[in-house]
Amino acid sequence: MTRRLDGKRIIVMGSATGIGAATVRRLAEEGAQLCAADINVEGAERTATEAGNGAFAVPVDITDEASVGAAVAEAAEGLGGLDGAHINAADLRVIFQDSNALDVDLDVFDRTIAVNLRGHLLCTRAVLPHLLASKGGAIVYTSSGSARGGEPERPCYAMSKGGLEALMRHVASRWGREGITANVVAPGFTMTQEMQAGGQVPQAVIDHFLSTGRSFRLGQSEDQAAVAAMLLSDDARWINGQVINVNGGSMFF
Ligand SMILES: NC(=O)c1ccc[n+]([C@@H]2O[C@H](COP(=O)([O-])OP(=O)(O)OC[C@H]3O[C@@H](n4cnc5c(N)ncnc54)[C@H](O)[C@@H]3O)[C@@H](O)[C@H]2O)c1
Repeated sequence: MTRRLDGKRIIVMGSATGIGAATVRRLAEEGAQLCAADINVEGAERTATEAGNGAFAVPVDITDEASVGAAVAEAAEGLGGLDGAHINAADLRVIFQDSNALDVDLDVFDRTIAVNLRGHLLCTRAVLPHLLASKGGAIVYTSSGSARGGEPERPCYAMSKGGLEALMRHVASRWGREGITANVVAPGFTMTQEMQAGGQVPQAVIDHFLSTGRSFRLGQSEDQAAVAAMLLSDDARWINGQVINVNGGSMFF
């Protein structure tokens, strides 16, 4: 493991479980100082403890502007500034009701957009001034292959992720010359520890991904964490406004 993130001060929004938790652990292994933020504060505290290296947790609801402002202020104060932000949170509970454009309940649309898109805008607005004060920094968002996949279901989720990719490109274009990079990690199907433990992913889904992809195995949270770590490091200073698909080469989403 390299120490390429030594001295980097990074907040991870959506860090209690899954990909965000794995990313906090990976960033700490590479030397970053971390604040783990999540609506599930017990989970974020567990993540911070597991990560070590002085990582600490703060509560945040990314749909609430005041909550986001308070969390980012606490992170910047505790870390002495910010050099990076991984904005990763999504509400994946409503995704099971995200049926199709004719049938989907508009409450599902509103909730999905509130967390996955508007919430990411709020986080962007809160972290950017700190990154600019540090004379530059990196923002890494988590999108999904479904932003571009054109699936016959989950339209609200796909719309939220498509919008998020537009936000990322805007940030890269508007603030790139001031030292900001903004990029997206777009996971394919990723079997998180929690999904594995919950045993709720149907075998047919697992078989589908194993039989149709370009890899012999399913994606893991650590696969996503490794790419987020690279994008948050100085190795990625010349990567800006990009979507990096991390999906084992899959052609399906
Ligand atoms: N796992 C996959 O197959 C997969 C595939 C494509 C994209 N993604 C994306 O990866 C990211 C992480 O997903 P995951 O699979 O690790 O799921 P997850 O549910 O384990 O992680 C999402 C995190 O966001 C937090 N969160 C939810 N609502 C929040 C809010 N209002 N404020 C603050 N935090 C909130 C949750 O508490 C949780 O810790 C998401 O953006 C998801 O859309 C996942």
